[in-house]
Amino acid sequence: MRACIGVVLLFAGCAEVDSDSACDREPTLTYENFGQGFMDQYCNGCHSSLVPAPYRNDAPESVNFDTYAAVIAQRERISVRTDSLEPTMPPGGGPTTEELEVLHEWLSCAVAEDAAALGEE
Ligand code: HEC
Repeated sequence: MRACIGVVLLFAGCAEVDSDSACDREPTLTYENFGQGFMDQYCNGCHSSLVPAPYRNDAPESVNFDTYAAVIAQRERISVRTDSLEPTMPPGGGPTTEELEVLHEWLSCAVAEDAAALGEE
């Protein structure tokens, strides 16, 4: 059963990204070479556990993305709020459509794989 879930997830994840970026990019997108920089640049000004409440621009105190574990745990909400056609985060916009597509590739490839490895399906 577990293997089936993994296969379904992988398929669903890869179906979301366009065909020339189906988890076969070299080098692979990782937290270190992409995700951390993206989250720091576009999200963590408000969503970091290091940013005190008065400076968070009303971002919920429980929603932080300054560790990879936190990103993995919240990957679905991150994905929903950064839809490349209708992003609702960051509130004022920022990332280009291309950057959002790379974000989604990372979320549906390495992040989904690492989530599955942690049993966070
Ligand atoms: C300028 C401050 C600011 C930045 C930058 C920002 N957010 Fe937010 N975020 C908010 C505020 C305010 C809320 C609460 C209101 C809401 O949900 O729209 C929020 C809520 C959220 C939530 C929790 C609600 C939900 O839908 O689950 C998520 C997830 C989220 N943001 C993701 C992101 C991501 C991903 C980025 C970067 C691409 C980002 N945010 C950048 C201010 C910000």
